[in-house]
Parts: sequence; C-alpha cells; structure tokens
Amino acid sequence: MVAKIVVTQPVHAEQVQRLRDAGHEVVTLDSPRGLSAAELIEHTKDADALLSQLTDKLTEEVFAETRLTIVATIATGFDNIDVDAAQKAGTIVTRTPDVLTDATADLAMTLMLAVARQIPESDASTREHGTGPFQLLREPMGIDISGATLGIVGLGRIGEALAHRAHFGFGMKILYTARSAHPAAEERFGASRLPLGQLLAESDVVSLHVPLNDETRHLIDRETLTLMKPTAILINTGRGPLINERDLAEALRTNQLAGAGLDVFENEPDVHPDLLAVGSRAVLTPHIGSATAKTRRAMASLAVDNILAVLAGDPPLTPVK
Ligand code: GLV
Ligand code: GLV
Repeated sequence: MVAKIVVTQPVHAEQVQRLRDAGHEVVTLDSPRGLSAAELIEHTKDADALLSQLTDKLTEEVFAETRLTIVATIATGFDNIDVDAAQKAGTIVTRTPDVLTDATADLAMTLMLAVARQIPESDASTREHGTGPFQLLREPMGIDISGATLGIVGLGRIGEALAHRAHFGFGMKILYTARSAHPAAEERFGASRLPLGQLLAESDVVSLHVPLNDETRHLIDRETLTLMKPTAILINTGRGPLINERDLAEALRTNQLAGAGLDVFENEPDVHPDLLAVGSRAVLTPHIGSATAKTRRAMASLAVDNILAVLAGDPPLTPVK
C-alpha cells in the first residue's frame, strides 16, 4: 500500500529518502517550531503516518480528526502526545528510547561539572582578562563532584546511565527515587532508594530523570527546594515543567541553593527572566541532551524504522506503552 507520511520538522534527508524508497508519498512541512493541533489536523487529515517531534502538539482533537495509523515521535519523552486519545483512535505511538541514553546522561554529567567548576563564567573571564596571576585563594572556588552524593530522581535508562558515570567515574555515592526498588542498580552502584524528601535533604547534586506527567509537574518547587542543602546543585535534562522556574530562581537568588544546570525549561523556547537574572549560578543549555550527530541520526532512523514496520503490517519496535 502507498501511504501518505507527513514529516513535521526538518529531519535527515536520508531518512526521508528511506520512506520514499519504500514507495510512500512523503510530505515535508519543515516547520521550525513545531505544529499546533490545528495545523496538525489541517496537514494530516488524509495522512497515514506522522513523523513528529516534541514541539508538535498532538492533542485529543488531532487523534479525533485524523485517521493516522502511526505517530512516530523522534524523542524519548512523549508528554506532548495524548496517548490515551491515540489509543482510543487506534493510532500507534512510538518513541526513540535507548539510542539517546548515553548522550543525555553525558550532558547531565557535563552540566553538573560545569556548574560545580563554574565553566561558563571561567571561560568568559579568561576571554576578557586572561588568567590573571595564579591565586591559591582565588574566589569564588568550585565544588568537588568527586566523592559527592548524587540523588537521581527517577532511575530509568538515563538515570541509570548517569549513576554508572557518577559512581564509576567520579566515586559518587548514589541515592535514587523510583516507584519500585532496583536491586541490580543497588548492587552495582551501592545505590540506596529513598523517599524524595530524604533524597533532596541528603544529596549534594540532584538530577531529574522522571517523565513529565500530572504527578511530576512542579516536583521541584518552593516547598521541596527548602529541603535541599544550600550547597547543593540541581540538574534537569528531563522536562522543564518538573521545576517551578520562578521558585528555583528565587532559591538561587537567596542562596538557598548553590547552583543549577538546566537543559530544559518550563515554557520553551523561552527561559524565565528570573533565571536569566541569577547569572552564572545557573548554567543553561537549549535542550541539547540528545544533540550529538550520531545520536540524532540514530533517533531519526529508529523513528523511521517504526513507521516502515507499522506500514508494512509488522508490530512497532518501540511503542510508548
Ligand atoms: C528529548 O527531550 C527527548 O525526549 O528525546
Ligand atoms: C528514558 O527513556 C529513560 O528511561 O530515562
């Protein structure tokens, strides 16, 4: 069967070619910012498959108004997709886990080190002033990551890959929260499972790796921030709305928290002005957790594998549920 496949945003040309080589009709929209529900409905009314990204708004109305066989999102997170509505409409939803695990865990580690050792600020001052004379008592001084305690909120694939790096590479003590115990991780990393409040209180660095849903929205807010050590660092490479950004900025501004490394934001593409105002205590990157050439290629390829499989009548490789 010749299927119509809509590609919402720019992807690697060879992946579009794979869809065409399979005999399908491919429409590329190349929207730079993602599509609204109304735009998606307009463009996918007669489509069979959608190759989408995390800024596309796949609401209940989209599934009600279309007859899509499959939506393949090029991401591991799928909080932009009403999966229950998709299921009701008989639309298969797939995502791209695993292939981005290492790249994302690498970025979480990078942000942790960048905040602790004030890399952006140091880079800027070196460019402006050179190194200056070496000073034993130079201020401000960094924070040791080696040997510190890392609290991982959500020990999924990425959380576990971070635990591996932190424990074996940096000798960090690992604490984690999870719905159920992970005995293998406890054995490998000597990790301890704790309730969130206790993890926040005992960690020198806290890194968020839970999916965004009604239960996890604003997991970190004024109240939970007060549980953290004033010397602690908060890292988020998951989803922005896990954190109340205004509350975080306030905690940084008032020295309730030492620093934050953020790759995701509550209202992307915008960053809360209060966060910008706290200066170098927050290290900010523009949602690049998976942005290495190899990983992004693997994500696009896996999403296309899913579409080709489903359109050929085979089961999806990496469905969301
Ligand atoms: C990126 O944020 C992803 O979910 O893959
Ligand atoms: C992402 O897919 C995760 O499980 O961490």
